[in-house]
Amino acid sequence: MIPVQRPELGEDELKAVGAVFNSRWLGLGATTKEFEVRLKDILGVKHVLAVNTGTSALHLAIEALQLKLGDEVIVPSLTFVASVQAILMAGLKPVFCEVLPETLNLDLESVKRVITPRARVIMPVHYSGLACEMDEILAYAKSRQLRVVEDAAHAFGSAYKGRKVGTLGDLTCFSFDPIKNITCGEGGAVTTDNDELAGIMIPKRILGIENDTWSRYRNERNWSYEVVTPGYRYHLPNINAAIGLVQLDKMGRFRERKSAIVRRYDEALAGLDGLSLIRRNLDDTFPFCYIVRILRGRRNALAAHLKALGVITGVHYIPNHLQPLFQAQRQPLPVTEQLFEEIITLPLFYEMTDGEVEQVVNGVRTFFTQAK
Ligand SMILES: Cc1ncc(COP(=O)(O)O)c(C=O)c1O
Repeated sequence: MIPVQRPELGEDELKAVGAVFNSRWLGLGATTKEFEVRLKDILGVKHVLAVNTGTSALHLAIEALQLKLGDEVIVPSLTFVASVQAILMAGLKPVFCEVLPETLNLDLESVKRVITPRARVIMPVHYSGLACEMDEILAYAKSRQLRVVEDAAHAFGSAYKGRKVGTLGDLTCFSFDPIKNITCGEGGAVTTDNDELAGIMIPKRILGIENDTWSRYRNERNWSYEVVTPGYRYHLPNINAAIGLVQLDKMGRFRERKSAIVRRYDEALAGLDGLSLIRRNLDDTFPFCYIVRILRGRRNALAAHLKALGVITGVHYIPNHLQPLFQAQRQPLPVTEQLFEEIITLPLFYEMTDGEVEQVVNGVRTFFTQAK
């Protein structure tokens, strides 16, 4: 069976984990610091906080804005539930907006329809690695005095008009979970150029303790500590940072191979009647996943056809406004609901062989040519 996604991990990651293992300093420490410095250099951003998941990154980022309970965050319904749970964890209210069918990225016109006087934040989600139209979003946010917290879980390594994702909005959140562009096993990061926001997040990441991060970065621990704010246990441990550091070295290779597979898919699937490609920009995008739209109600039939041929597919994601949790406040989002019937995620991962790529391509093609 060809999976939808799979991390590439090898001897180098094992060796790096072994070194941390032997140091006996597994938690927040010098390796975490090294990972943060590397991310800062790669992205060209002032502050990077490495955390234990992308969800923690989002929660920490939203809380750093110090908003009032019940203030609103506008977020596409078509995102992983983690984006939405982070908003709820911060005591805020998610207000769902539409995405554009051509890109699956946030539709600013729909934001203008759902906005209320309690809106404080827009959360663009850079879907499948393609950056949202950030110039328009940032200009609109400025005009309405909204903060911009980017969910860039899919978009580590991507850029917008040549500017790196991670340097655009007030705060950007990455995920390094097992299937992301690079992995730490589990992990995430928040980036910002804003000193004040970084200052709020640093103690919150480690139980509200103010003076401990710097000594821990040297693999030391203070016996005395000061708790200055409510906080969480969200730091990225040394042991996960060690995996991430090795993956950063491989990032260029990962991107090249995944881009080549995306090019092949786009070329091979273009023009099929009943299949619509998503718009991509491979110059600026580190592609995370490969999604197409299957029209006229045939998506599930294609998934079954591919499964019978040994190809696993996915649907990313079930729109959040359709989840039971939001039933009471549900507003229709017709574009998102339509897209939910159409989207299918085909396998895309670094180690996919050319033969496996052709197996997927042939599977999709035969579905459209034979199963009329
Ligand atoms: C769009 C999106 N946001 C947030 C997250 C959360 O990241 P993590 O799994 O690292 O908590 C994910 C992870 O799948 C995601 O896809």
